[in-house]
Amino acid sequence: MLEVAGIERMQQTKSVRDIDIKDKRVLIRVDFNVPMDHEFNISDDTRIREALPTINYCIDREAKSIILVSHLGRPKGKDSDFSLKHVLKRVERLLGKTVVFADDIDSAKSIQATLKSGHIILLENIRFNAGEEKNDPLLAQELAQLCDVYVNDAFGTSHRAHASTHGIAQFVSQKVAGFLLKKEIDSFAKAFTNPLKPVLLIVGGSKVSSKLALLNNILDLVDKIIIGGAMSNTFLQAQGYDMQKSLVEENLINEAHHILEKAKQKGVKVYLPVDVVSTNDLKTHQEIKITPAQDVPQDFMAVDIGPASTKLFNQVIRDSQTIVWNGPLGVYEISQFSRGTFNVAHSISDTYAFSLIGGGDTADAVERAGERDNMSFISTGGGASLELLEGKVLPAFEVLDQRE
Ligand code: ADP
Ligand code: 3PG
Ligand code: MG
Repeated sequence: MLEVAGIERMQQTKSVRDIDIKDKRVLIRVDFNVPMDHEFNISDDTRIREALPTINYCIDREAKSIILVSHLGRPKGKDSDFSLKHVLKRVERLLGKTVVFADDIDSAKSIQATLKSGHIILLENIRFNAGEEKNDPLLAQELAQLCDVYVNDAFGTSHRAHASTHGIAQFVSQKVAGFLLKKEIDSFAKAFTNPLKPVLLIVGGSKVSSKLALLNNILDLVDKIIIGGAMSNTFLQAQGYDMQKSLVEENLINEAHHILEKAKQKGVKVYLPVDVVSTNDLKTHQEIKITPAQDVPQDFMAVDIGPASTKLFNQVIRDSQTIVWNGPLGVYEISQFSRGTFNVAHSISDTYAFSLIGGGDTADAVERAGERDNMSFISTGGGASLELLEGKVLPAFEVLDQRE
């Protein structure tokens, strides 16, 4: 399934274990983009926990300074709703250490200059800087000035060529992978070099634009695809159904058509919801209706798959040997709209298939469904795991040092 040369190259990346950390200023790019409720309570801290081995390793090896860099969400400029201050306490608690918050790169610099050796800094959301997503070399250089060693442990963001995941590497002499990056790539290599067939991809969630394009290439690798969540709205609309107020990416309708057509040519079976749960108001959800996917009531939005779809998807799941799942099938954070997603989690856990779960929200949903321990492997990457399965060498790996 995976492109072997590419994955082998990624497995050859140098790790934090291959270099000397003592007395070095270490910058670790982590992915602390964790799911939170509207009061900023973290609902799943897996991504933070999974970064701990690398952070602790650098502490134990007596790094002079550790600076943690991450994004949170997709802010448009500075916006306190997206501040990493919301994760500071959890990071401190899990590490059992004081972590100093730096509002920006300049304040990180002065903290580094004033605090004694061994301190840990958490930098404010790196996406508050306009240059991050543009992979601006000026921002990359500024970040590089904060460290002697660059460690990337943000597997969930490894498919992004941004200043903190990609550009920075060209300005740092030692750049290596953290333990999470290593663990993820090794697990993918083991599971997907020769997957058992039939291979089923379940895709949902809300990041439709970034995930839809990936389906194109993945069609070569899978036997069946279940599409749910907001993703399926665009496909249902492409079939001529009026999805009313549902989240639909109008500009991707042609692309959705193209994918359905290509799937047909390749003999890949695509399963879309046949019925949906919809509401007139996502906040108050005063009115909730279950209808065929063709009949979403006027001014309602589809927010979960319906019971008939759950049954249909369950049968498809039961017939699969390898299952890759990214993206919840509904607004699982709200209990009334979580049933489809949770039932799919239960169906997967009832199979003997190898199951790979990817994505911050999908992992959270599986946890809430009480099925975490029944999955074969939970990746911290959603989009990243799909791009990996597509056969790409992920940009974040590309720029790290290779073993001789
Ligand atoms: P992941 O983090 O697992 O990669 P995404 O971030 O792409 O997944 O999507 C998760 C989000 O998708 C959740 O917040 C969920 O509420 C939302 N979602 C799922 N289905 C729908 C839908 N039908 N309408 C609106 N949002 C949806
Ligand atoms: C994720 O949650 O998939 C990663 O943190 C990457 O986020 P992004 O899709 O906003 O780049
Ligand atoms: Mg998400």
